[in-house]
Amino acid sequence: MRIGCPKEIKNREYRVGVTPAAAASYIGRGHEVFVERGAGRESGFEDAEYIASGASVLDSAGAVWEKCDMIVKVKEPLPEEFPLMRPRQIIFTYFHFAASRALTEACLKSRAVCIAYELVEEPWGLPLLQPMSEVAGRMSVLMGATYLGRNFGGGGILPTGVTGVAPARILIVGGGTVGANAARIAAGLSAMVVVTDIDHKRLEYLSDILPLNCVSVYSDEHAIKREIKDADIVIGAVLIRGGAAAPKLIKREHLRSMRPGSVFVDVAIDQGGVSETSRATNHDNPVYAEEGVVHYCVANMPGAYSRTSTMALSNATVQYGLRIANRGAIEACRENEALARGLAIRDGRLTVKPVAKAFGLESVYADTNAVLDG
Ligand SMILES: NC(=O)c1ccc[n+]([C@@H]2O[C@H](COP(=O)([O-])OP(=O)(O)OC[C@H]3O[C@@H](n4cnc5c(N)ncnc54)[C@H](O)[C@@H]3O)[C@@H](O)[C@H]2O)c1
Repeated sequence: MRIGCPKEIKNREYRVGVTPAAAASYIGRGHEVFVERGAGRESGFEDAEYIASGASVLDSAGAVWEKCDMIVKVKEPLPEEFPLMRPRQIIFTYFHFAASRALTEACLKSRAVCIAYELVEEPWGLPLLQPMSEVAGRMSVLMGATYLGRNFGGGGILPTGVTGVAPARILIVGGGTVGANAARIAAGLSAMVVVTDIDHKRLEYLSDILPLNCVSVYSDEHAIKREIKDADIVIGAVLIRGGAAAPKLIKREHLRSMRPGSVFVDVAIDQGGVSETSRATNHDNPVYAEEGVVHYCVANMPGAYSRTSTMALSNATVQYGLRIANRGAIEACRENEALARGLAIRDGRLTVKPVAKAFGLESVYADTNAVLDG
């Protein structure tokens, strides 16, 4: 199969879909890899490293999209890329369809085969979301700490505290991969940490592994209302599996109860965000204030730490990418249930029910089995 890796074009997105090491893995299994010139540079991978791996470097994104059977990317296709998608071409990347009707419609119209990283699901978890959730979770605390600085519009609280002055209180809503990683870093800063979740087993696990300055709390409206008013940093880290938009657990009135200059980092913004005040921002203009609370809602947080993120993501995707390349998308999905769950669109039909429902696209909804059967 011909595998293509164009340069990412989303604002300040410095990651790349395929590392030279992953390119070598594809090539070692008899496939060809085509990389857009300069695609890896912002992650510290020069064209020469791809060439040394056996890949070819092409001059434009258009050439990569045109030549290749499978496009391996990081972020969802943007409007400039919509016309480049074509029938039966496999697009293997993050899509987060629930966050964009325009993207969903463009992918349906293209008749491409869209396999969404965030939907690939093993019995133990989400293997292609997890590495980026680790990055975003760890980073969320660093961002929260930065924007608590008075010079960034925050309340001027040093999260670690100092002798005689208490550290910050950090509330993490959702204790999955993002939440657990955020808690770990927050605990390392000596903050007082509360992590909420609705999954009892998960709360039990968090209680076991997190240090004593982290408390796990069952998540409901009362708990959020009670905990949020004393929090200096709130981190949104909820995910409803299966592609649904994030629930709006944080209300405007909750934010009004917080101290002005507190910071809300909504990591779940890529699924629409967990607050009714959340709207996506980017790395150029990452924050805005609502109800006196600084909101950081960057949908591609790991892009900032591109080298670490690229390596972690590519290590995870190459294993599934190889299955697709070796067997073809449909056969690979038939053989591998985890991958089949990631099959979001084929031949103008959508398999993600919550997205079909949210956008009133039920006329094109068909479940995965029906779509696999053609
Ligand atoms: N902004 C970014 O750059 C970025 C990067 C990586 C991940 N993310 C997003 O972060 C979110 C979390 O990802 P994850 O990998 O941690 O998911 P995950 O599935 O590991 O964890 C989600 C957790 O939310 C919990 N949850 C569900 N409903 C809840 C509720 N009502 N109250 C409290 N907890 C609830 C679940 O039980 C689960 O433990 C996702 O939307 C993901 O796409 C964003």
